[in-house]
Amino acid sequence: MSHDDFPTEQPAVVTCGLPYANGDLHVGHLRSYTAGDVLSRSLRKLGQQTAFVCGSDMHGTPIAVNADEQGVSPEAFATQYHEQYEETFPQFNVQFDNYGHTHDETNTELTQSIVRRLEDEGYVYEKEIKVAWDPIEDQPLPDRYVEGTCPYCGEHARGDECDEGCGRHLEPGEIEDPVSTRTGNPAEYRERPHRFFEVSELSEYLSGFLDRLEGTSNARNQPREWIESGLEDWCITRDLDWGIDYPGEEDLVLYVWVDAPIEYISSTKQYSERVGADEYDWEQVWRETESGEAGGEVVHVIGRDIIQHHTIFWPAMLEVAGYSEPRAVCATGFVTINGKGLSTSRNRAIWAQEYLDEGFHPDLLRYYLTTMGGFQQDLDFSWDRFQERVNGELVGTVGNFLYRSLLFAYRNFGGTPDAELSPEVEERIQQAVDDFSAAVNEYEVRKAGDAAVKLAQFGNEYIQRNEPWKLDDDEAAPVIRDCVQLAKAVTVLIEPVAPDKAEAAWAQVGGEADVHDVTLDAAFEPPAAAFDEPAELFEQVEDERVEELNEKLAERVAETASGDDTDDGTESDESTDADEADVTDELEPLLEDRIGFDDFEALDIRVGRIETADPVEDADKLAKLEVDIGVETRQVVAGIRQLHDLDALPGTKVVLLANMEKAELFGVESNGMVLAAGEQADLLTTHDDAEPGTKVR
Ligand code: 2FM
Ligand code: ZN
Repeated sequence: MSHDDFPTEQPAVVTCGLPYANGDLHVGHLRSYTAGDVLSRSLRKLGQQTAFVCGSDMHGTPIAVNADEQGVSPEAFATQYHEQYEETFPQFNVQFDNYGHTHDETNTELTQSIVRRLEDEGYVYEKEIKVAWDPIEDQPLPDRYVEGTCPYCGEHARGDECDEGCGRHLEPGEIEDPVSTRTGNPAEYRERPHRFFEVSELSEYLSGFLDRLEGTSNARNQPREWIESGLEDWCITRDLDWGIDYPGEEDLVLYVWVDAPIEYISSTKQYSERVGADEYDWEQVWRETESGEAGGEVVHVIGRDIIQHHTIFWPAMLEVAGYSEPRAVCATGFVTINGKGLSTSRNRAIWAQEYLDEGFHPDLLRYYLTTMGGFQQDLDFSWDRFQERVNGELVGTVGNFLYRSLLFAYRNFGGTPDAELSPEVEERIQQAVDDFSAAVNEYEVRKAGDAAVKLAQFGNEYIQRNEPWKLDDDEAAPVIRDCVQLAKAVTVLIEPVAPDKAEAAWAQVGGEADVHDVTLDAAFEPPAAAFDEPAELFEQVEDERVEELNEKLAERVAETASGDDTDDGTESDESTDADEADVTDELEPLLEDRIGFDDFEALDIRVGRIETADPVEDADKLAKLEVDIGVETRQVVAGIRQLHDLDALPGTKVVLLANMEKAELFGVESNGMVLAAGEQADLLTTHDDAEPGTKVR
């Protein structure tokens, strides 16, 4: 990859996948919006000029279908959710510089001009294709207006996606045994002229693009496989009233996935027009330079279910239309709730509004969602774990350090004592700043948050080790000077993850300027000579609260399940692989049959250490691991690809059943079995330092 490290001379834009204006927001959504927000704030901390934009995705058949059902126009239906999102995001401190929507004038005009450009460049052709049609109503049935059988796996599927089976995107005309979801009438296929974008012609460009692309590895690996297996041209029109008109055609609208990503550009343009091009120039970011290179640093944060759209269709459009290609695509894993798939139809979700109504501070959830695991990994939310992390890391480490040092400083010195910063502390702050910068350059928001928490941890150790309370003021002064500097540095570093809390802490250290605008240099600038008495930043989450919240969640899932007959099948779009996988809240019952010690002895279980972890070609869920088990290295295939960040696995200790029969999966030999717990394949590891090869008894 050939990109310069951040900060660069070019402006950056961070975008988040546009939410369909089609339902209430929940933690599944918030995961990627908080990650995007943390990333954009972190880039600014590095001194990178950055805009953060998004908007509501107003088009598409799910919205048209739901609006139909409610007897309102799609525009009125989508606008209501758009307005709700506009209000909700800032409540989680997700501060977009512009939040537009795909149906506005800017996006309509830009979309049509880009499509015309694709036509002018000769990349669009017309072809007659079979589209589902309701013969009784004499209506076309695009996408979700039709359902039937998936031609690939035979499962029941929607017209545009095999949502219950293999998960493939389905093109118009592919679904078998079509039935109208509007009327229940059996549908037939009719020939209709549609427009296709010649993506197949761009394979070579896209391969090169993927070689340059930064971000998470899943955003490169999956598309490489799709390219290898041959790209199909993409149908970009629909027989639908709701959407952006295909230029010059009355009866066709553009497929929602054409105008949706263009909103990234439109939203940046609106921001630029508001603040003025001198402050932020959208064209500099989005227009290719004369030599055909990206003008700015475009970073997309998305859910992993829409990788294909962002790494194949979208860069293909940008390339042909002369816009900058993305520098990075960061695709988050899904969110599960108590180890089970988040399901809106089952009400197994933590809703954004519900979280706020419970009175929790948004920064606590931001911290949880952005630092719980690697970007690509699925992330489990539970109130127990939430409590553990808030009480342990935020209250116990960060809050505790800031409060105890600032209180000591205030009581004994009225602020920062007049003393020199020690080289030890200066170096430690430098290390935290370096870790933070490296994390941002790796797009790892978790590690950026860790840099702040680890620095606070060091602060606690430092104050404990130096025991200033046992010293007279002269001796305590240098220790407390160090501690206040550490507190200031922690505040700067934690701002992206916990902006409100950082603002409060910044006021406590008497910080000048605005903590949201300062760069990492502020971590080294001398703290204020005088400041007020500090207050504690974070509050403990009590056990009773957690019990109460767990009960509420369990009751509501049970209630929804008992009324499940009325489940309308309108599962929201965030459905996960794990979704529906575990529909019972019960743990599996224990086995009655006992085994003898000899039976156990027959299992040769060893400690191993993962050396490499790579995806298995053509198998979305499988990973190929090389595992060092002391005496030799084993190649093992494990179903963990979508559940773990493969890049983060090398070095991890695992437990391996060494005398498992050999097997071949997707043409790859598996020689052993890595042990893991539950639907999320939580990998078993060792508590202490047992070396690879050690027998497990
Ligand atoms: O999958 C979704 O939720 C889409 N609304 C995301 C659109 S992202 C973008 F490209 F516009
Ligand atoms: Zn299928």
